[in-house]
Amino acid sequence: MARLIRLTYYLVALLFFLILSIVALSRYQLVNTVPTPSTKVTKTPIQFDTKYLSWLPHGEFTDQHEAFRNAVQLGKELNRTVIAPMLRLGKPLAWQPFEQMAQTYSTLQNKQLIRQKCTELAVVTNDQTCITLNDWTEIPWSSLFDLDAISTEFGIPIIERTHGHGWGLDETSENVMGSITDTVVIDVLTFMENSTFYSQHQQRQWDGLFGRQSSQRILNQPTQDKNKLPLKTVIRPQQWKDVDQRQYIQFGALSSTPRYQLHSTPQQQALRKALSRHLFVSPNQMAPLKYQADQVIATLGGVNHFSSLRLNLAKVIALDARVNKDATGAPITTMDDLDVQTQKELMDAVVLEVFGDIPINQAVSAAMPVNPDSTLARILLQQQPSSSPQERRQLLDACIDYRQNIEERYPIYYLVNDHIPSPASQPDTYGPLLSFFPCLFTKSDMKHWGKLDMSTWISSSPVLQDIGVDYEKMLDPMLDILISGQGINITIMNVSLFA
Ligand SMILES: *[C@@H]1O[C@H](CO)[C@@H](O)[C@H](O)[C@H]1NC(C)=O
Ligand SMILES: *[C@@H]1O[C@H](CO)[C@@H](O)[C@H](O)[C@H]1NC(C)=O
Ligand SMILES: *[C@@H]1O[C@H](CO)[C@@H](O)[C@H](O)[C@H]1NC(C)=O
Ligand SMILES: *[C@@H]1O[C@H](CO)[C@@H](O)[C@H](O)[C@H]1NC(C)=O
Repeated sequence: MARLIRLTYYLVALLFFLILSIVALSRYQLVNTVPTPSTKVTKTPIQFDTKYLSWLPHGEFTDQHEAFRNAVQLGKELNRTVIAPMLRLGKPLAWQPFEQMAQTYSTLQNKQLIRQKCTELAVVTNDQTCITLNDWTEIPWSSLFDLDAISTEFGIPIIERTHGHGWGLDETSENVMGSITDTVVIDVLTFMENSTFYSQHQQRQWDGLFGRQSSQRILNQPTQDKNKLPLKTVIRPQQWKDVDQRQYIQFGALSSTPRYQLHSTPQQQALRKALSRHLFVSPNQMAPLKYQADQVIATLGGVNHFSSLRLNLAKVIALDARVNKDATGAPITTMDDLDVQTQKELMDAVVLEVFGDIPINQAVSAAMPVNPDSTLARILLQQQPSSSPQERRQLLDACIDYRQNIEERYPIYYLVNDHIPSPASQPDTYGPLLSFFPCLFTKSDMKHWGKLDMSTWISSSPVLQDIGVDYEKMLDPMLDILISGQGINITIMNVSLFA
């Protein structure tokens, strides 16, 4: 009996240990399975020595310039090297959602690639990409702007991508140290989830809840359809720390600065001020272009002795519902499509607008009749609005003389105009403008007087070697900035004038 009891005790003890070991073992296994995701969570991120940011360029010069400034400010905030894509001159690229824009950047922005394709497809002559191939070109920003000054003053390293159009893992900039192994995309204009981007940890929770695919689908929904508009979301200053450890941040369009908010530190404020005053403001690094601008400025009477007037008539017309369609409803895009009466009205409106915009004392000087004893009065009496270069030159001399000796506020204008090169050659249309502002001169005048010559130096500039491109036209906006920046006042006319 005692034996039986002892056996039973023995068996019970054995059973107990068996259960204990199973429990312990399963515990152990549990411990062993859980860490697989948890080590991933707690894994300390790789420390990258140098971190980068870049963006996809689009839009006109002003958009690209804004994007660059934004990138520089982000470079300061995030302590990153800025990789600048080249500046596109000429026909602009429209804004697109990130994936399309990235696609466009690496294919349609790649001239070598397109040129090759267009030669292969020589038969397909109506391919839009091939036809417009010479309507645009790319040049390094540093050929126009002093980028080193930004780095020196604010310690923000800037490198340029002057070869290829690869970004992120495929970065083609030659100045990148080592290789890019980690890229994160941020584009608040395209991705809804980028405005609220949760930390890595939250990301996993989302993925855990919905499964990676479904969470992406839910969050991506608003950006699914084509031809969509940019989202109106923003990134807040405190969000940046979530991407602090990433090696390479690839932004989409960076032209809307308020979408990417930064901490308002004193350095950041100083940078912003500098970027609006003296850094990255003047495209003065291309010596021969600067020389041409300086010649024009000197001819107009010198720095701060003239004003600038820019008439974006096409924009004015396009924006005005009353004139932008003809009787049949077809769109009107240029001045020449308007009837003479409407052209006159438009010019009258421009004159009023210019008067409204210029400083009051200058406006008074312009509105007063020209002193009848002056050379200017005599010349204005003699000349009908004339387009002969000699007569134009006499007029300019008389204008400068009048300003120097009779009325120091009498306005001399450097006119930039998207309609015709020389308004004086079309007095029917420009009569109202010329009668109030007779001292109005253009690039066309300067060329006739031998004060502006773009043709002789361009072909020998090493950065202007895109054969077939009209560089004179491409560099026009830069020349205008250089000239206008040295005048007293800049008036830009592109609003609806009849409103
Ligand atoms: C900024 O980055 C550089 C390397 O790119 C590093 O040496 C420096 O310590 C960083 N500064 C700060 C404030 O993080
Ligand atoms: C922004 O959205 C894209 C697309 O969903 C995603 O790949 C990227 O990781 C997001 N960036 C951040 C910082 O969350
Ligand atoms: C135009 O001149 C006036 C007075 O000289 C000045 O107050 C104003 O800021 C100037 N405007 C521009 C756009 O330079
Ligand atoms: C005209 O357009 C320029 C750039 O497109 C803009 O900076 C300026 O404010 C506009 N002028 C007016 C009067 O709307």
